Amino acid sequence: MLISLCIFVSGLLCPILALDNGLALTPPMGWLSWLRFGCTIDCDAKPKECISENLIKRTADLMVSEGYRDAGYQYITIDDCWLEKTRDPEGRLVADRRRFPNGMKALSDYVHSKGLQFGMYEDYGTKTCEGYPGIKGNELFDADSLASWGIDYLKLDGCFADVHGMGVGYPAFGQLLNATGRPILYACSWPMFQEVNGLHPNYSAVAESCNIWRNWVDIRNSWASVLSVMKWIGNHQDKLASFAGPGHWNDPDMLVVGNSGLTVDQAQVQMAVWAILAAPLMMSVDLAEIQPEFKQILLNRAVIAVNQDKLGKQGLRVWRSKITSRHPHQEIWHRELTEGAHALAFVNGLTHAVTVTYTHEEMKLPPLDYDIQDLYNLGTGINQSLKPNETLTLRINPTGVKFYKFKYSPQK
Ligand SMILES: *[C@@H]1O[C@H](CO)[C@@H](O)[C@H](O)[C@H]1NC(C)=O
Ligand SMILES: *[C@@H]1O[C@H](CO)[C@@H](O)[C@H](O)[C@H]1NC(C)=O
Ligand SMILES: *[C@@H]1O[C@H](CO)[C@@H](O)[C@H](O)[C@H]1NC(C)=O
Ligand SMILES: *[C@@H]1O[C@H](CO)[C@@H](O)[C@H](O)[C@H]1NC(C)=O
Repeated sequence: MLISLCIFVSGLLCPILALDNGLALTPPMGWLSWLRFGCTIDCDAKPKECISENLIKRTADLMVSEGYRDAGYQYITIDDCWLEKTRDPEGRLVADRRRFPNGMKALSDYVHSKGLQFGMYEDYGTKTCEGYPGIKGNELFDADSLASWGIDYLKLDGCFADVHGMGVGYPAFGQLLNATGRPILYACSWPMFQEVNGLHPNYSAVAESCNIWRNWVDIRNSWASVLSVMKWIGNHQDKLASFAGPGHWNDPDMLVVGNSGLTVDQAQVQMAVWAILAAPLMMSVDLAEIQPEFKQILLNRAVIAVNQDKLGKQGLRVWRSKITSRHPHQEIWHRELTEGAHALAFVNGLTHAVTVTYTHEEMKLPPLDYDIQDLYNLGTGINQSLKPNETLTLRINPTGVKFYKFKYSPQK
């Protein structure tokens, strides 16, 4: 009664019913193999890139030695293509014997020994997207196998499946994971498969069953792809944002940062907007090859702090220029933070630099006095202040961003 009243009066002020497994109280951070390594299985031709024990161990070592773990990146997750094509005679899933010669439990122990968490991938349907065995028809067995290997995170994809039945099947599998007694972060692809098929996912039900959930198509290694995901999320934010909160988050997909498809400025845009969105921060990059300027973006503590802000409120695209307006192709993304602070990402989509001026109203900032920090240039950037009757003028790089934190500063 109290809860339903609460929803009628104001959705925002009420805690929504949500999965309670104690996980993902802030958006999960980690590494996922897919975007960078895909379904590379030929270890003779590509020994450093194939989905294998060696890749996972090497990545785990680098997560620690290069400071990613200490910055908050916790999960190391194998995506598709880790399986043998057939189950064993008892019907159990088997990891590829050549690429994972010591089996998944040994690999999970290795990852845990580094102070990291271990994630795996399966599919709700009869096959994974790349054609390996899915869980359909073997749910109980498979939940048991996955838990017995000591996983902490499961990405459950939705290929080769009945999309209409996902609203029943995904929660049911979540119950089986719960029944194993092992807390496992549950990453669902259910809404994405329903959205792309023109159905209307029940996001209340999704947030009750999943810790994170993919909304839209896979992100790819390009600026155009990052922009199109931002556009989709922005266009659908009114139906999505209220379902995000501690324990349950929308997932616009992996960070492309560090791969060939984005410049440094474009990588800064993605990291800033994903921080605003309270999105999972799952890198997908070869940590042995990443260039220092991209590593610096992934390890930027001030930006990570915005993503991990304890208020747990997903930010919004609050302003968008018209092509004909005085600053074409610009967007402002805004997130409310704890202690009355605000994070704002000012994005320039043009291929030339722009100088733009914004009012408090355009920035959706209450008309107060603020101290401003430039989150990509702490220490070197000029700290500014902003008064209620002043406008903010910024110069933004081509396909780049200025990412600022605004702190209320009562007048001295
Ligand atoms: C299982 O679900 C119950 C009820 O939501 C919750 O209290 C418990 O922590 C969950 N256990 C695991 C292992 O996820
Ligand atoms: C959506 O899910 C919620 C929570 O499970 C449920 O109460 C509600 O009836 C569902 N809505 C629809 C339209 O099915
Ligand atoms: C700006 O503020 C930040 C955080 O308070 C501080 O670390 C930095 O040194 C300041 N930068 C300048 C140029 O004063
Ligand atoms: C803003 O207000 C202050 C004090 O009220 C005044 O001194 C200042 O000139 C105003 N600035 C602008 C740009 O109007």
